[in-house]
Amino acid sequence: MKAKKYFAAAAGAALAISLAACSGSGAGSEEEPTSGATGSTDSGEVAEGGLVGVAMPTQTSERWIADGEAVEKGLQDAGYEVELQFANDDIPTQSQQIDQMITNGAEALIIAAIDGTALASQLDAAAAAGIPVISYDRLIRDSENVDFYVTFDNYQVGVQQATSLLVGLGVLDKDGAETGEAGPFNVELFAGSPDDNNATFFWNGAMDTLQPYIDSGVLTVPSGQTDFDQAAILRWQQETAQKRMEDILTSTYVGTDLQVDGVLSPYDGLSRGIITALQNNGYSGTVADGFPAISGQDAEIASVKLIADDVQFATIFKDTRKLAAQAITATEAYLEGGEPEANNTEDYDNGVKVVPSFLLESDIVYSDNIESLLVDSGYWTAEEVASGVAE
Ligand code: BGC
Repeated sequence: MKAKKYFAAAAGAALAISLAACSGSGAGSEEEPTSGATGSTDSGEVAEGGLVGVAMPTQTSERWIADGEAVEKGLQDAGYEVELQFANDDIPTQSQQIDQMITNGAEALIIAAIDGTALASQLDAAAAAGIPVISYDRLIRDSENVDFYVTFDNYQVGVQQATSLLVGLGVLDKDGAETGEAGPFNVELFAGSPDDNNATFFWNGAMDTLQPYIDSGVLTVPSGQTDFDQAAILRWQQETAQKRMEDILTSTYVGTDLQVDGVLSPYDGLSRGIITALQNNGYSGTVADGFPAISGQDAEIASVKLIADDVQFATIFKDTRKLAAQAITATEAYLEGGEPEANNTEDYDNGVKVVPSFLLESDIVYSDNIESLLVDSGYWTAEEVASGVAE
């Protein structure tokens, strides 16, 4: 326990309000995303709960904006001041922002790292100042000074991505039972950013699920690119994924009889780049008509519309409101002088120690459960799904 201060304002009742607030607001916010620091409570009153620094990687993906806003609002409702920063996916920017948060007197840090290995000196400074550090969604690696980790079950997310691909190909039904469909199906494989610890978990979960079908010949990977290093897309960039898919089509498919039947994609932004590459190369229509089945992650609104239109096959929904609430719970535990409750103390070794973690569950979104998972829960409105744009 490193935090030395106790704050009356951060009482359980305030937490209950903050959780209710978090779960009530959807992913699409009417507010403009915050690009700089904010340091007040909603009511404009002076916060009594101390300053919490919140470092998010980028605003180019909706989920991080939603995460940042939900954490900020929940903390403010609980009486804390918040300094929320987004770093444009630039490592020096994020390091400098965290340095500044420490200088500004942050009592706790919530960090979603761009590069999980690049923050050692910031974490050393935080530890020296007695500031608890909560690693948010992405594990910070190679440092003793990470106190807690809140995330989803990332291996299971990978299993779900591969499962949805197998469902899209008709190999499994939606209950996970084998249909007897033997293929062979041509698939290509994409992974996330190699500097994001999550990317390996997603990949391992997916490949453990797909490998038996590759071994038995139900699936083939015509490009031969089956290693993580070949499949990885630095910084999760949509354009890089589009380019890699175009290169694979050119080198392996164009001018042959081969057709792509499915693509493992670990993030909706990559999925949309892959879809564009395929469409630019003559693939068209819907999955029901033979368009390749493509997986995803994050239930971004543009992809949810593509799923509703049967162009992208599936995505994985990770409710960022629940993750934000968990980060706030952990922060309050530290600042009230306690320890947050972990539900996993085995799987997340950051290279120096196993970081106590709280893992949340995720769901596969298909066209037929968009309403029950995303609309009924208030994550997106029916109008947003119809337009593909967050309001
Ligand atoms: C997150 C994913 C997200 C990806 C790209 C990962 O660390 O866990 O939800 O799709 O980053 O932003």
